[in-house]
Amino acid sequence: MNDTRPIGLFDSGIGGTTVWQAVNNILPNENTLFLGDSLNAPYGQKTKEEIIHLSKKNTEWLLNKNAKIIIVACNTATTNAITELRNTYKVPIIGIEPAIKPAALNTQTGVVGVLATQGTLQSKKYTEAQTLYPNVTFINQIGYNIVQIIEEGGLYSTELKDLLTTYLSPMVEKNIDHLVLGCTHYPYLTPILQQILPQNIKIIDSGLAVAKHTKKILEQQNLLKTDNKLGISEFYTTKNVEIMQSFIQQKGIAKLIKI
Ligand code: DGL
Repeated sequence: MNDTRPIGLFDSGIGGTTVWQAVNNILPNENTLFLGDSLNAPYGQKTKEEIIHLSKKNTEWLLNKNAKIIIVACNTATTNAITELRNTYKVPIIGIEPAIKPAALNTQTGVVGVLATQGTLQSKKYTEAQTLYPNVTFINQIGYNIVQIIEEGGLYSTELKDLLTTYLSPMVEKNIDHLVLGCTHYPYLTPILQQILPQNIKIIDSGLAVAKHTKKILEQQNLLKTDNKLGISEFYTTKNVEIMQSFIQQKGIAKLIKI
């Protein structure tokens, strides 16, 4: 059957558009709705209760627009709120978490760097996931202020480059060979990170894995849009449109709405 209802994605801001991109690359015919809650960004320093509250609000907003599946395109919301979301709503809920598994399985030095928000790194879900790899040393670094700077349009600022250098130098000294980007805003940092990090350090994120998993769930649950028409993507932001526009314009998409 041809299920034309949209895939709903949300994030605390523009970061989740990196996940949207991965989803759109492998499911180009699906209709999508993206909600960026930039008004309440960053989520990373909020309490678990606040993150659950905002995640429910975002999910309900997407469900009211008829989403057939929800992708929590935010590591902080996933690691703090996905259990509550799954217990509350009937549609499939896909989450995103730091990709420590491929890093842990492939590391040669046995040392892996993880850059993520405070909310993610201090969550029970993340701390438990790390214990699965007792032979790997994880260097966890909270990315204080990174999301704020990106949300304010400072992606290419010296301030951000300096901050990243401060966060990453100790990891390089400790001989990491993988850097896991545990926040969906961070893939936008990749060109800057490549300038800062030695070439042998592999930078990984979870966008593609989430997109592949979403495809599998849609197939299994008979939820795919099976006609051969390209999907329509709508982007919504709870703050001003300019910043989101600058990110989605690179993707050649026009439909952007402030709510
Ligand atoms: N993109 C969110 C994540 O993946 C950023 C969280 C925040 O707003 O601090 O964690």
